[in-house]
Amino acid sequence: MESYQRLLLNNKAWVNDKLNLREDFFSRMTLSQEPEFLWIGCSDSRVPAEEVTGVEPGEIFVHRNIANLVIHTDFNILSVLQYAVEVLKVKHIIVCGHYGCGGVRTAMSRRHLGLINKWLRHIKDVYRLHAGELESIHDENVRFDRLVELNVMEQVHHLAEISFVQQAWRKGDRPTIHGWIYDIHTGYLKDLVKITPGELPHHIYTYEFPDDE
Ligand code: CO
Repeated sequence: MESYQRLLLNNKAWVNDKLNLREDFFSRMTLSQEPEFLWIGCSDSRVPAEEVTGVEPGEIFVHRNIANLVIHTDFNILSVLQYAVEVLKVKHIIVCGHYGCGGVRTAMSRRHLGLINKWLRHIKDVYRLHAGELESIHDENVRFDRLVELNVMEQVHHLAEISFVQQAWRKGDRPTIHGWIYDIHTGYLKDLVKITPGELPHHIYTYEFPDDE
């Protein structure tokens, strides 16, 4: 059997398990989705959003990219975000980084990887913003863990800088933005930082909307 065929077989077993639990497991999914959470995580195969949070299908809207970055010119994440905030009306956005992140590790080095240099450059910017703190850490592994944390905090701030997040805050008490770290050594999630609705970023990123006048 080729390795990919195991996935198709697993799927059949999974369907059986779910139907044994409740007969309408799939039929009740066909109407709509009302997830309360948007997860922005790393593509790393060791950090599966649904599995580490113990949620079922329908509970969490997921976007993953290398090193869980929120880039203001990335139409992919912006589309996911706008849909999650304006249509699904999620209550919480979780940016989840992880220790041992290959993207962050590479960004800390001078390694040249071609196209991906351009993506990882955003993490180099985070490094430069916090170079004083990071370069005072002599243990390279500790510095690496700290950059993973600073990167998550920076992405959380990027979310607060987005106009339609700010507009959602004006209309109601959501979404709350969370920064978490998944520890690949223990399996535990660490609650690092939280921005509550209306906690606006630096004024240069705070928008005035036409209906202000
Ligand atoms: Co990663």
